Amino acid sequence: MVTFVSVLKYEQIKVNKALEHELAAMPAPLRDIVGHVLMAGGKRLRPLLTLLSARLFGAEGDGLYRLAVIPEMIHVATLLHDDVLDEAESRRGRKSAHLIYGTAPAILAGDALLAAASHRTASFGIPSLLTCVSEAVLMTAAGEAHEIALQHSLMHSLKEYIDIVAGKTGWLLKGSCRLGALYAGASEDEVEAVSDYGLNLGIAFQIVDDALDFADEAVTGKPTAGDLMEGKFTPPIMKYFEFLPNMDRERFREKFKSGGFSAEDRVRIAADIRRLGFDTEARAMADEYIAKAQACLDRLPHRFEQKVFREALEFVRNRKS
Ligand code: IPE
Ligand code: IPE
Ligand code: MG
Ligand code: MG
Ligand code: MG
Repeated sequence: MVTFVSVLKYEQIKVNKALEHELAAMPAPLRDIVGHVLMAGGKRLRPLLTLLSARLFGAEGDGLYRLAVIPEMIHVATLLHDDVLDEAESRRGRKSAHLIYGTAPAILAGDALLAAASHRTASFGIPSLLTCVSEAVLMTAAGEAHEIALQHSLMHSLKEYIDIVAGKTGWLLKGSCRLGALYAGASEDEVEAVSDYGLNLGIAFQIVDDALDFADEAVTGKPTAGDLMEGKFTPPIMKYFEFLPNMDRERFREKFKSGGFSAEDRVRIAADIRRLGFDTEARAMADEYIAKAQACLDRLPHRFEQKVFREALEFVRNRKS
């Protein structure tokens, strides 16, 4: 863990420099709104995965940062779009971009970032990188669309929930790992192993995000119990719903379907979920995917980066923001 956190912190500085460079290259009318989210902190986990994967398979040099910014640009584009879809009020500790600049500019800023990420990817002249990146964007959008189709439903299965999170979050973490391996010229087996690692890490990452949805905004930088308002039937909410006595379920169901929870409801339910430990139980559901990701590591070269990948599992499992 010590290694992972220090590597993440160290690389954040260089990744941020490379991102500043990308931001400066954006057309002027987009720069403020893109910068509002792009330069507002963020763990920079996806760029780190790309760096580790590229180095694990022998790539080196400072040029790697130009590759590593690609998944972060895509990530930030999805955040801009996601906050419009979710009507979220805050992100990375700041007021959401669409509430400051407007919905249309926020959508356009996300589109522009996706295009800039493709442009950067094409600059390497390696067609497989573009295939990797476009697949990740496509599957992320599919995951978000799947989630919207089931919004306000209290009926769907855990399997369907996992399909959604694999799409909306897993594919980009998979793509982040895959991008580095393809760039470094890893073998087909190695590319698949690191991709499987990324997908499972990504599923675990989103399961933890859904548990963290009930944590304090001061810590996460995002609205507390946003998923409740948005009608997202995530594991902590599934557990809470099951726990409710029959007489209370109907009222909950009505509010969940209409998005009719008041601010007080949100505060009370978030406190209940934490007091009853449903967020902790929900987080533990990530273990299955952490274990799958861990098994993939045996198929990778036993080098320093593989060790950091192992520590990333613990970081994702236990993260607080
Ligand atoms: C938030 O991602 C969106 C999800 C896919 C859950 P992160 O938790 O990686 O957010 P930042 O980049 O650190 O802000
Ligand atoms: C995010 O899911 C997935 C994305 C593709 C951005 P959430 O809607 O749970 O992410 P947060 O909680 O807003 O960061
Ligand atoms: Mg959201
Ligand atoms: Mg969302
Ligand atoms: Mg969330």
